[in-house]
Amino acid sequence: MNSIQLRIEKLKSQINEANYRYYVLDSPTLSDAEYDLLFKELLKLETKHPELRDPASPTQKVGGPPLEKFTKYRHREPMLSLQNIYSEEELVDFYDRWASVIGNNFSVMGEPKFDGLAIELVYEEGILTVASTRGDGETGENVTENVKTIRSVPLKLRGDYPKLLEVRGEIIIFKKDFEELNKERAKQDEPLFANPRNAAAGSIRQLDPKIAAQRHLDLFCHSLGKIEGANLKTQVELGELFSHWGLRTHALKKELRTQKEIQRFFVEVEGLRDSLPYEIDGIVLKVNELKNQRELGFVARSPRWAVAYKFKAQEGITVLKDVHFQVGRTGVITPVAVLEPVWVGGVEVKSATLHNEDQIKALGLKIHDTVVVKRAGDVIPNIQSVITEKRTGKEKTIHFPKQCPSCKDAIITSEDEVAHRCINVACPARLAETLKHFASKRAMNIEGLGDKWIEILLEKQLIHHFSSLYDLTPELLQTLERQGERSAQKLVDAIQKTKNNALDRFIFGLGIRFVGERTAELLAIHFRTLDKFLNATEEELLNVEEVGEKVAKAILQFISDKKNRNEINRLIEKGITPKPLKSYGGTTLQGKTFVITGTLPTLSRDEAADLIRTHGGKVTGSISKNTDYLVVGEEAGSKLTKARELGVKELSEAQLKALVG
Ligand code: IVH
Repeated sequence: MNSIQLRIEKLKSQINEANYRYYVLDSPTLSDAEYDLLFKELLKLETKHPELRDPASPTQKVGGPPLEKFTKYRHREPMLSLQNIYSEEELVDFYDRWASVIGNNFSVMGEPKFDGLAIELVYEEGILTVASTRGDGETGENVTENVKTIRSVPLKLRGDYPKLLEVRGEIIIFKKDFEELNKERAKQDEPLFANPRNAAAGSIRQLDPKIAAQRHLDLFCHSLGKIEGANLKTQVELGELFSHWGLRTHALKKELRTQKEIQRFFVEVEGLRDSLPYEIDGIVLKVNELKNQRELGFVARSPRWAVAYKFKAQEGITVLKDVHFQVGRTGVITPVAVLEPVWVGGVEVKSATLHNEDQIKALGLKIHDTVVVKRAGDVIPNIQSVITEKRTGKEKTIHFPKQCPSCKDAIITSEDEVAHRCINVACPARLAETLKHFASKRAMNIEGLGDKWIEILLEKQLIHHFSSLYDLTPELLQTLERQGERSAQKLVDAIQKTKNNALDRFIFGLGIRFVGERTAELLAIHFRTLDKFLNATEEELLNVEEVGEKVAKAILQFISDKKNRNEINRLIEKGITPKPLKSYGGTTLQGKTFVITGTLPTLSRDEAADLIRTHGGKVTGSISKNTDYLVVGEEAGSKLTKARELGVKELSEAQLKALVG
């Protein structure tokens, strides 16, 4: 081994050890910064020496390239479900049935029931080879690439591991990460996840492992599939072995010897429920001795030796009084259920979100219906179902408004989406949110003009839309209470300073649907001037990288709206002249489509892609008959084969550079 190899091995073992201490032993020894430093060093060495890369290296957790689709995976042993019980009486029955088969001298293992996504991890000779979802119990989906990105999932087992180990567990997402994820999705105008379980499932079913890697997923191991080369006797022992092999289990697990102890454990865990950072919905009880488990066997698709003892659902029954419609920044009209107040899990619930029209249809919901409301953790209550038996015939169909409840403009719906929206940028309900977005750091970056300011200015009617911001004078601002001369001048200066902002900031600031920062940048690179952007045709828009039909349509709808155009014209009249992006390099590659593969000698893939884009070219992720060039680096894989099949021209990094001069 040379010194680089030695260093790589050392780094890998330090990082694996740190993960183990953090996740399994729950006693971290490295700070986040120290961990990051080691991780970055390893990543750098592996990039520089791809021949030393190890598929079980902890750096594999950043996520590989996107998949086209998931393949099916057949479990060696079916993944079963659990029978549920909901009360102490049912527990007594279950316990007695156990005793009638295996006698009175037995114990059970109790642990939380995680409200997540069931997963199976297969370790062959200690290496993680497959991770799959439960699917129908027999066949699931192969989601290995995504599961590999989860930090608490070891790619290689520790210690004295068996030849074959199939571990089952639950993938969960922390409540706070779930909330942040939804906040981000709301900002991007993407549909929200209904609860953390859906968020975890949605993240694992992402085709792009890099997205899964960003989602902060976690895993708790709880049971076994097939195992070869180990001899174990009890469930408690299995828990210990999981930890020994570096697999994360839950600290709240306990061997319980009597019914009383079980009930006490249930109450204890239920008491902890709200303080746990992730969702649990009960406890699972498993007969401890595997010998006893074998004796008890199975009924249908559940083991007889285990049971889920569920917490009382945080549900309530009430009546839907009305539906109100709210308007958000991007104009999405969200229906909100107005409920007869009801207590659910210690909180009085008066309203619930209905997401969109599809959800109303799916529920078959009508006004005056009796409904089941559910609170999932800290999440806004949801309507679970309609109790149709309670219908009297007086229920009324819910009609979506045809006009915006705030500005009365027509509401737009398109075939391919479920949302209804108001596209009038001057709509008062949208205005405050629209202006906050325009002024925000990532858009026009108007220093000092925070949300509070915008609300005050709107309330005092000192601003009406984007353009009126540029009419503000220190004198006008000083008419506001406690507004000094210096700070008024400062704010006006900050606003005026943004007149020559770069075009991408301006486009992003307009708040066009689906146009995030990245798309705004690509549009700015492509069109160069505001004038060209405003006069873009559908065909031209579709030529812009990452702009598909959906995005092109949203842009056209926006720029052809009369009110929007008037407002932009007013901005132009006031001297707003967004600058072309600095990186603009010309149109040499206009109309050409590129794919990049392998490791390039000096540029990273992102840098190469940016180089292509700034010269007008388009970069895509996969080879098709529309690809003009494949930029090839070392260790190119299947893309190169496919490109050759299709006769796509190949370019080296040097040739690409030569092409753009
Ligand atoms: S043991 C027969 N332990 O609940 C399966 N399962 O409703 C034995 N689950 O498919 C599984 N937390 O994915 C076990 N602590 C836990 C669990 C747990 C959640 C899931 C599991 C199973 C489902 C059945």
